[in-house]
Amino acid sequence: MALLEILKHPDPRLRNKSVPVEEVTDEIKQIVSDMLETMYAAPGIGLASIQVNEPRSIVVIDLSEEKDQPLCLINPKITVTEGEQEYEEGCLSVPSVYETIQRAEQVTVEALDREGTPFELKAEGLLAICIQHELEHLEGKLFVDRLSKLKQQRIKKRLEKQAKETM
Ligand code: NI
Repeated sequence: MALLEILKHPDPRLRNKSVPVEEVTDEIKQIVSDMLETMYAAPGIGLASIQVNEPRSIVVIDLSEEKDQPLCLINPKITVTEGEQEYEEGCLSVPSVYETIQRAEQVTVEALDREGTPFELKAEGLLAICIQHELEHLEGKLFVDRLSKLKQQRIKKRLEKQAKETM
């Protein structure tokens, strides 16, 4: 297992659109394990593969207190959305920024699990938010893209300054 480096906004690699995993091989299973370890260590509740510079579509999520209920979504696709909810979101690639974002209240997602078996999941509440947030990463988008241009500029400047200070 290995801890992976998490790319930080405004790293242009976060803007790459992910491509499908062709087959769930041992290499892919290893990436899933490394992503989970990286997410738990951060600590975070969700991580998309592009955040660790892996271009194939993988999302890991764990909302449990004990961090023992990992959810792995390979090639995930949202097929149904319903309702609306708001939540103050954060992101491991956008450190120390928390903003209220509006998303669907319920989603149905289709994906492969970490063994390559297709499944469908209906989610609501925080899990639905997390799924929508992580799937946006696979499209090369970040939650801050949903904010006003002015706010986006401020966040970008702050993060660029932080990055320089920690170099
Ligand atoms: Ni994120």
